[in-house]
Amino acid sequence: GKDVLALADFSKEEIQVILESAKEMKNIIHRDIKKVPALRGKSIVTLFYEPSTRTRSSFELAGKYLGADVVNITAGTSSIVKGESLRDTLYTVEAMGVDAIVMRHKAEGAAEYASKVASPVIINAGDGAHAHPSQGLLNLFTVQEHKGHLEGLKYVILGDITHSRVARSDIQGMRKMGVEVHLAGPRTLMPRFLFEEEGIVIHDNIEDAIKDADVINVLRIQLERQKAGLFPSPREYARIFGLNDKRLALAKDDVLVLHPGPMNKGLEISPYVAYGDHSAIQEQVQNGVAVRMAILTHALIGGNKA
Ligand code: CP
Repeated sequence: GKDVLALADFSKEEIQVILESAKEMKNIIHRDIKKVPALRGKSIVTLFYEPSTRTRSSFELAGKYLGADVVNITAGTSSIVKGESLRDTLYTVEAMGVDAIVMRHKAEGAAEYASKVASPVIINAGDGAHAHPSQGLLNLFTVQEHKGHLEGLKYVILGDITHSRVARSDIQGMRKMGVEVHLAGPRTLMPRFLFEEEGIVIHDNIEDAIKDADVINVLRIQLERQKAGLFPSPREYARIFGLNDKRLALAKDDVLVLHPGPMNKGLEISPYVAYGDHSAIQEQVQNGVAVRMAILTHALIGGNKA
């Protein structure tokens, strides 16, 4: 098997293979009986130290559709509450003979640490602000499905860039595939120095970023991670940076709107845009299952763990 820690570790060709495989997986999901035995006899544990609706349940469904046995551990209902360390928790899961651990943790580097200390394949389901590779891949898949290609598209990421692992995985994945990445948001949530490189354009003005966009990915304002409260205030944020129909009209006619979810509707995105004709937000969730089936297959039956 192979760890899936960040899209930085993937070649363009590997990403293409996963996107192709996800297309086949999507066909399987559309059948009456959406099961294939590709991972029969494999066992997967999801280990989540942070809340999740989409990522955890779509990895679980993905594993089950492929015939694997899947067990879920969430921090709040496990012996983590009694003080068991990450290392000991990993050892405990490993001792049960599992093949893969799908892990979410608040600390950057937690998945890489797990891959060093534990022998099962590690799939990063989000580590702090560092990486969320399955989200990056499902965004690529959704964009490619709509646009027919990736190279040369104008892809805009709006909002709380500082705290966003989704932004980082998007940047890595989109740049590898030749997509032009544009970033915009309040200066207080924009770590410019991290992203000043070729192929990435940082805008002070959100309208400039949105102009002629092919895709706009609206990030969730991560209220739980704003140490000094949200600045600008929620009301100002919605007014100055929120994606509404007026701003959306600046983009290309066939612009696609993405959001990783969960949404703060009325803050970073208006309900009209969230549920409007350009929105692919529900499709992202649907595609997330197929893409995670492809990721699990890649991780569990492709190559050897280094
Ligand atoms: N997009 C995303 O990671 O959603 P969840 O936190 O619900 O998994």
